[in-house]
Amino acid sequence: MASQSSQWNNNTAFLLAATGSAVGLGNIWGFPYKAAENGGGLFVLLYIFFVITLGFPVFMAEVFIGKKGKSNPVSSVESLAIKSKSSKSWGIVGYAGILASLIIAGYYSVIAGFVIDYGFISAQGVTEGTAKDIWATQQTTFWDMTFWTLLFIFGSCYVVANGIDAGIDKAMRFLLPMLFVLVIAMVGYGAYQGDFNAGLDYLFSAKTEKFNSPGEVAAIVQAAIGQAFFSLSIGMGTLMAFGSYMPSSQKVSKASSVVVTADTGVALLAGLAIFPLAFGLGFNPEENAFGGSALVFETMPEAFAQLGALGQIIGPLFFFLLAVAAFSSMISILEPSVAFLTQKFSMTRMKATGIILLVCISLSLVSIAGHNVWKDVSLGALDNPFEFMKYFADDFLLLLVGTGMSVFVGWRLQNVVDKQTMGITSTAFMSLWIFVLKWISPVFLMTIWVLGNAKVLFEADLIAQVLSLF
Ligand code: PHE
Repeated sequence: MASQSSQWNNNTAFLLAATGSAVGLGNIWGFPYKAAENGGGLFVLLYIFFVITLGFPVFMAEVFIGKKGKSNPVSSVESLAIKSKSSKSWGIVGYAGILASLIIAGYYSVIAGFVIDYGFISAQGVTEGTAKDIWATQQTTFWDMTFWTLLFIFGSCYVVANGIDAGIDKAMRFLLPMLFVLVIAMVGYGAYQGDFNAGLDYLFSAKTEKFNSPGEVAAIVQAAIGQAFFSLSIGMGTLMAFGSYMPSSQKVSKASSVVVTADTGVALLAGLAIFPLAFGLGFNPEENAFGGSALVFETMPEAFAQLGALGQIIGPLFFFLLAVAAFSSMISILEPSVAFLTQKFSMTRMKATGIILLVCISLSLVSIAGHNVWKDVSLGALDNPFEFMKYFADDFLLLLVGTGMSVFVGWRLQNVVDKQTMGITSTAFMSLWIFVLKWISPVFLMTIWVLGNAKVLFEADLIAQVLSLF
């Protein structure tokens, strides 16, 4: 039987830990490049819209399951299923979340490894015009990549092994303030040195003329929803695990709104740190790499190179910011599986973390190899194992788990959900939340899941096919 998990020893711990989790590479590495790949403004507006309408309700559902179930993701779901006279197989939602979290840990740590590596590269100074080659070379070095990745994995496992108070809470108290100061400093510098108006315009004006087919619009909607869920750390058991440590006096709705707001704020700030600087130095999406990892690992180092000696300070600061954000998120990615092993198999935290450490290392090696030795091992439209892991966790599993939790809380836990735990006093608001979980989010999430997977796995454009019938 699962044992009762411990509790945060104060009321800010959940807020710090969940914000540290949410604000990560997804905000600073992912959000700006996805905005760029999807044409800027419209993506950003859709992103904000979906954070509010879908992300926030499902976020609360996940925290609620944890808080009410008071255990690791699997046991929490199972015990609530029993309580609501539903099948225990709902536990599969928890298992799928844990699986997703481990796969994410495998590829996330590799990007974080690049970040640390680039902190040193940019401190040494990059010669103008060479950033592109440096980035190409960095990806070919299997052993260097392994070194940086392992450093990151060991560091985050060390924190997690120390427990939720002495490890996670203590680390977050130190990391989060630093993260906010750094991000504001970077925005300030971008505004001072770069072209702030061009950055603002790029991020917030919806250039609809770029999108002329329903298929294209569906693709941006899909990217925006996927990014919103990933950035909010939904669907990987993290929020259930952290929610299970919440003191009973803390309310799910209030705590969730703080975290969701902070996460969205930092994503927008990251865009405002990157684009004004890039535009101010004469970079643009037509001629320079603004999409994928190249935005942060090629275009930004080139921008720092152009700043000369100053770039040797601003560059490392930027990568330090990314590293701090990645580190606090990685800790949270490890927690669901460690909590699961300790509670389900009565293991010590040390032993559980040791096992997860080995799993992460193995998965990260596959992801590293995807950049070099297994670069050409493709799967459908997915170019290599790194892309495959990213796709399977972020696009395939995440939306499934999100839907699962939404349906579970909306349909099965109606009699378990209480205003007291949620901290919602208005009946209308409560009904609205349940309505979204019951209907809106499952329908939306499953539609984009089907459309997206049909395209990536079978190269089928379902929207175009349906439209061609008329
Ligand atoms: N939200 C984190 C980010 O934006 C990633 C993450 C996903 C962390 C899932 C925990 C769980 O980078």
